[in-house]
Amino acid sequence: MGVFVYPGSFDPVTRGHMDIIDRAAVLCDKLIVAVLTNRSKTPAFSMAERLDLLRTAIGDRPNVEIRSFDGLLVHFMENEGAKTIVKGLRAVSDFEYEMQMALINKHLDPTIETLFMMADAKYSFLSSSAVRELARHGGQVDDFVPAGTASVILAKYDRS
Ligand code: COA
Repeated sequence: MGVFVYPGSFDPVTRGHMDIIDRAAVLCDKLIVAVLTNRSKTPAFSMAERLDLLRTAIGDRPNVEIRSFDGLLVHFMENEGAKTIVKGLRAVSDFEYEMQMALINKHLDPTIETLFMMADAKYSFLSSSAVRELARHGGQVDDFVPAGTASVILAKYDRS
């Protein structure tokens, strides 16, 4: 079992992420949700905002912790004594990028494994950018984001 790390930008967290968090948490002793920086993206929500939204979403799930890290995922894993990365796959389109990341991480630290979970079919079309696009144009986001986070997300775009 041990410590699993679920990394991502979480800009913002969605119900798709929560589905992976709940299914991964039962497979390990501790799940760390790690908010990292994807240098090819400019986040809409600040690190503090993304962490706050995750805290609201995750609540008091007993073996789930939230952290942030600016650097390589493998270095974060090493600091935490974690050996397993959890990632969700929504569609074939995710596969190539995720395989590349898994192989780079494996090359950097051969003791680290990446565990892929198929995203729930009802979230296979969902992404953080779709949520941001809906919020920007005043669309309903409640079905796509965790309870208690919609008003904060809409407020960011003056849509609350
Ligand atoms: N349900 C719904 N949406 C999901 C999902 C799920 N189960 N899983 C992923 N997504 C969405 C995310 O919301 C995100 O949407 P967006 O592109 O619209 O914002 C998209 O799928 C991609 O998510 P993810 O694969 O988690 O990428 P990310 O950009 O959020 O995070 C990092 C990538 C931060 C984990 C990665 O860049 C990283 O490890 N960075 C640190 C530096 C490093 O070590 N790099 C590797 C060596 S080069």
